[in-house]
Amino acid sequence: MCGIVGYIGNKEAYPILIKGLHRLEYRGYDSAGVALINRRGELSVYKSKGKVSALEHSVDGKDTTGSIGIAHTRWATHGEPNEVNAHPHYSMSKQLALVHNGIIENYKALRAEMEKNGVVFCSDTDTEVLVQLIEYVQHRHECGLFEAVQLALKSVVGAYAIAVLDKAHPEQLICARKGSPLIIGLGTSDQGAHEFYLGSDATPIIEYTDKVIYLQDEEVACMDGSGALEIVNLANVRQTPQTVTLQMSLDELEKGGYPHFMLKEIYEQPSAMRTCIRGRLDIVDKDVLLSGIIDNKEKFLNARRIIICACGTSWHSALIGKYFIEEAAQIPVEVEYASEFRYRNPVIYSDDVVIAVSQSGETADTLAAIQLAKNRGAFLYGICNVIGSSIARATDSGTYLHVGPEIGVASTKAFTGQVITLFLLGLAIAKEKHTLSDEMFHMLVDELQRIPDKMQWTLDHNPNIDQFAQMFTYCKNFIYLGRGYNYPVALEGALKLKEISYIHAEGYPAAEMKHGPIALIDEEMPVVVIAPKRGMYDKVVSNIQEIKSRHGKIIAVVTEGDNTVSQMADYTFVIPDTRDCYVPLLAILPLQLLSYYVACAKGRNVDQPRNLAKSVTVE
Ligand code: M6R
Repeated sequence: MCGIVGYIGNKEAYPILIKGLHRLEYRGYDSAGVALINRRGELSVYKSKGKVSALEHSVDGKDTTGSIGIAHTRWATHGEPNEVNAHPHYSMSKQLALVHNGIIENYKALRAEMEKNGVVFCSDTDTEVLVQLIEYVQHRHECGLFEAVQLALKSVVGAYAIAVLDKAHPEQLICARKGSPLIIGLGTSDQGAHEFYLGSDATPIIEYTDKVIYLQDEEVACMDGSGALEIVNLANVRQTPQTVTLQMSLDELEKGGYPHFMLKEIYEQPSAMRTCIRGRLDIVDKDVLLSGIIDNKEKFLNARRIIICACGTSWHSALIGKYFIEEAAQIPVEVEYASEFRYRNPVIYSDDVVIAVSQSGETADTLAAIQLAKNRGAFLYGICNVIGSSIARATDSGTYLHVGPEIGVASTKAFTGQVITLFLLGLAIAKEKHTLSDEMFHMLVDELQRIPDKMQWTLDHNPNIDQFAQMFTYCKNFIYLGRGYNYPVALEGALKLKEISYIHAEGYPAAEMKHGPIALIDEEMPVVVIAPKRGMYDKVVSNIQEIKSRHGKIIAVVTEGDNTVSQMADYTFVIPDTRDCYVPLLAILPLQLLSYYVACAKGRNVDQPRNLAKSVTVE
């Protein structure tokens, strides 16, 4: 959602903070701000509406010196995105400045209480309540910042990751978290002095150090300019942090010559999928080795059901996973919108396996859904991309995607990585349960190994999508149709288009057309049909005929060499032949490109579409 950066050391903080904000901008981007304490002990806050570049512009010519600072890029929750509501927020005396990710649920009660006691607020945000509360506690208890933060957070209900500066303590940077991620980077300057970096994820830190500490819920850390680090919980009990080495390179965070991260990530899919299956598919022995399944074999063998909780694109990949796991491993699978699951009273048995699928591993709804399942005794399995993320840590076991950082807000390689990981999981369980014949199992393993090459083929054999996309920039609506494994592809294709082009799009199971949506078809309506020469091909051909006879424009994804659908369609994308279940991994690629080029032709900000954020850490 929002992004936090912090620095304390002996370098100039401002360039580090600004660079960090640019790297975090994918998380939220409606306003940005920075707070610095200069060498004369003055605390300055600069903020502006819009992107980080607007902040840089507004700060031009101002004093940005100092070697301690905090910064923030915001995705508005409470209060509209404007300069006043942007972070950092000052306390009333302007002694303190604070940045915050998350939501304070009892902020109204806290604010009312402080207002009664003379505290004056100047923004609509829940965040300002936090900084005022810390100052209020400092005065009441006559204590320093570190203690005041601990005391104040005890009365806070909600989720937070915060970083605070106190003009009276220019040698201290304090941070704390609950339910919102925060990472401390442990650096050493050229002169050999200790320095600390702070980030809501590792992206602003990796350039300086790969040694990090993931702050745990209800921990408060004090980073001192002398190099000392102290971490306590809210009861002021000292904690022993674990230092972790990041497995991420700076190159993975750059655009590498592409105009947008999204395009880079689309084209990265063949190599990212090779990494995803590396060490997990054994082609010589025709085997699948997934340590999460091997280590928890009994849980999966005895599972009454699998429930997959996810949101957005991850929900779509979960649906493909359901079809495959049920077919291959013969276990009933339910796919739940995490946001719904957490608020109804679902039946969860202690012999259920609950799988959370989440690229970021930070999605608040998914995290809450698995916490509910944990309370009911289910075994929790996480499928995440971000290493060390909250969901990865909250689950009993799991599998990382290993597709590299995904920066574009619209998910692409994480989707295909999730689908492959769910296939690996289904195959690994099927092997243990002997629900597939050896012949079928080997064939599925062999073909999965070929998928990265077939993805490359697909990317190479669909040229000119950029020119073709120009024709659709004036469309107001799109329909996407698919059957079986390709129904979730239709949903995902439609989501991609609406997210980044702002054109309304809906995905349907193709056979559902006749039950209502067919009324929408006319010569203005582009209909994208996933029609591989597999599965229910003949039935999809009939669906296409129904659309043609109502003058809809057909864009079809067809198997190489197909003539029937190609002749009926106004435009075709080709994919190589593959097993029915693996078609989604190929069919989604031209649909991602179509969305990308339509959005570019409409002049949209593809990597940072309006109103969206990369990790949705609020409900
Ligand atoms: O990080 P997650 O996979 O849990 O995120 C879930 C959704 O918010 C996410 O997939 C969203 O739909 C993307 N913007 C899709 O492109």
